[in-house]
Amino acid sequence: MGMNFPMVPAPAPAAGGTPAATPAPAPQGPVVGTTQQKVPGAAGTTANLADLGIPTLVVADGPAGLRISPTRPGETRTFYATAFPIATLLAASWDLDLVYQTGLDMGSEVKAYGVDVLLGPGMNIHRNPLGGRNFEYFSEDPYLTGKMAASIVKGIQANGVGTSVKHFAANNHETNRNMINVKVSPRALREIYLRGFEIVVREAAPWTVMSSYNKVNGPYTSENPELLKTVLRDDWGFKGFVMTDWFGGRNAAAQMVAGNDLLMPGGQAQMDTLLAAVRRGDLPEKYIDENVDRMLNIIRVSPTFLGHQPSNNPDLKGHAERARKTASEGMVLLKNEAATLPAKPQPVAVFGNYSYDLVSGGTGSGDVNEAYTISLPDGLSGAGFTVDAGLRTLYETYIVAEKAKQPPRRSFFAPPVIVPEMAILPKDLKKAASTNAMAIITIGRIAGEGGDRKVQDDYYLSAAEKQLIADVSKAFHAKGKKVVVMLNIGGVIETASWRDLVDGILLTWLPGQEAGNAIADVLSGKVNPSGKLPTSFLVKYEDDPAAEGFPGQEYGPEIDLGRRKVRASEITYQEGVFVGYRAFDKRNIAPAYEFGHGLSYTTFGYSDLKLSSPAFSGSVTATVTVTNTGKVAGREVVQVYLAAPGKTMEKPLAELKAFGKTGLLQPGQSETLTFTLDARSLTSFDEGRSAWVAEAGTYTVKIGASSRDIRAQANFTLATEQVVERVNKALEME
Ligand code: GLC
Repeated sequence: MGMNFPMVPAPAPAAGGTPAATPAPAPQGPVVGTTQQKVPGAAGTTANLADLGIPTLVVADGPAGLRISPTRPGETRTFYATAFPIATLLAASWDLDLVYQTGLDMGSEVKAYGVDVLLGPGMNIHRNPLGGRNFEYFSEDPYLTGKMAASIVKGIQANGVGTSVKHFAANNHETNRNMINVKVSPRALREIYLRGFEIVVREAAPWTVMSSYNKVNGPYTSENPELLKTVLRDDWGFKGFVMTDWFGGRNAAAQMVAGNDLLMPGGQAQMDTLLAAVRRGDLPEKYIDENVDRMLNIIRVSPTFLGHQPSNNPDLKGHAERARKTASEGMVLLKNEAATLPAKPQPVAVFGNYSYDLVSGGTGSGDVNEAYTISLPDGLSGAGFTVDAGLRTLYETYIVAEKAKQPPRRSFFAPPVIVPEMAILPKDLKKAASTNAMAIITIGRIAGEGGDRKVQDDYYLSAAEKQLIADVSKAFHAKGKKVVVMLNIGGVIETASWRDLVDGILLTWLPGQEAGNAIADVLSGKVNPSGKLPTSFLVKYEDDPAAEGFPGQEYGPEIDLGRRKVRASEITYQEGVFVGYRAFDKRNIAPAYEFGHGLSYTTFGYSDLKLSSPAFSGSVTATVTVTNTGKVAGREVVQVYLAAPGKTMEKPLAELKAFGKTGLLQPGQSETLTFTLDARSLTSFDEGRSAWVAEAGTYTVKIGASSRDIRAQANFTLATEQVVERVNKALEME
């Protein structure tokens, strides 16, 4: 059902020249970080229509916490916000209650500082490990993504402020994001790239949705009524409003027709274009009326409209304490040879630039202006460890000197400054191995919007990083001492080529401002790690089907957008629904660490898996008992995968359909968890019928400690095929 929405004629071509592109809207209104009226540093505001009794709403980033200017001219007080752990760490906690609480705290800061809508959560799928914004997103799996997004949206909105789930849709990487056309099958869209958004819309009713920069199967998402009306509103019942990403899309009139209600940040050129189109009759006013109606429905429940007076005094102390706890709950113990961890307080040699320059979050709009970040040495010292002072001085001196050589960052959007890994002299290494009880090495990665990561010296470790791990391991193992690596990263890196050199690997992700304390809490055993991977760690980047054709192919002439010149590009998601573990399981590719993997300082036994019935009738309930079979208290994440019959469609071997996390189980203590699979859980998307269909046949429920560590399984049958839900045909590939 393609719509021929009225195209506003492009401006007359310069005499003899090629038709000029629709001019990018002049930044009339505030743009990211420059809103100086109500809340300096916020990303934007809606138009000021005070004479109509319609106040200006303030919208501000981002997914890891409120991003506003921490200081204001003429003000002595500060306006810091809490830098919470990144979305991928939240997902790695597999703890929906914890994520809800994070949303409560985040949303209370949004309200306290007088902001109406937080521009988050980010929830695009981790399709390719090099995606520059993967840290802002939850997972490679749409179900985990949707459930996490729904929890944090409920928490944020419980404060009476709004959210903007983003970027709708299929904005899975950054290269040429304003121009790229993502070509993807309707089935892969429905099952993978839209599924998380469907869950959050249906379960949490976000006030707004942010359309993405890119095109999907031809049209810009912000100009496509099939996406913004047919799917989002007609199929899913979305009742809020849609805003563009900043300067997103090209044709303002088409955006109005498509149901992209708000153009952000908004510019005079867009206003002029729309007025002219309405006056010419190209743009029926009814579309504008619909958009205004949807906007007013949200404005009238906003804190600003309801006369809320910002306190400017959120409970930053309380939020920081919970951010520390949350961070430790999402860290993933990847390796722990011979119970290397937890480590009792002892002299430690701390290696790696990032040990002294921890990455609390990513760059770009997903960053936060926090008051402080706890360093690793400070966190370790606070936990009773003695950090080798000589090494600390060497590193801190080196880092300062190296950064002094770098040009100042033009803005928080600028790519992060990467300092080459410092080489350790043999004499310093020898001394460190003699005077310390163990070694800690931090490998860090930082990325952000506007750019994707690289394969060499990024996904794969640099030569200097490999050398450091090899040298430190050799020196400390020669003394019978252990080596632990911290992965302070926002996206997947390669581990298989070096992990056998070390005794322990703790994936800290980007843990927010309490980083050093949270890491020390896990290293010391104050917190028993319970995180599990929300995204696969592959042996080789090239093994990933999503590596083929990444990051897309440019074509055609250069287009002058005024602020920069670009070319059209496109990428085909040729792997369809086989993304992440769905691909690796199907192709029998052994990951370095599989989706759902994560170790504990204790062990858990699974028993008594029972299904409510061997024959499916409306739903099936699975119960399973988990017992702490180790020596210390801990929490276990239980994952429920479903293997479905695939006669009419090729299907993944198994897909995540439910999960739960136990409470803190003491040694010997058990907990029984219950999971219910409804009819929709059994379905795949049948493009021909445009319906969610459950095939007749045998289904296998797989209870896993990870996607590959299946502890129990049981079958049920569906006697006859069920068409569980019909939806509109939409978003066909060109
Ligand atoms: C940025 C980002 C979006 C952000 C917005 C406002 O370009 O893509 O995530 O919310 O603009 O800062």
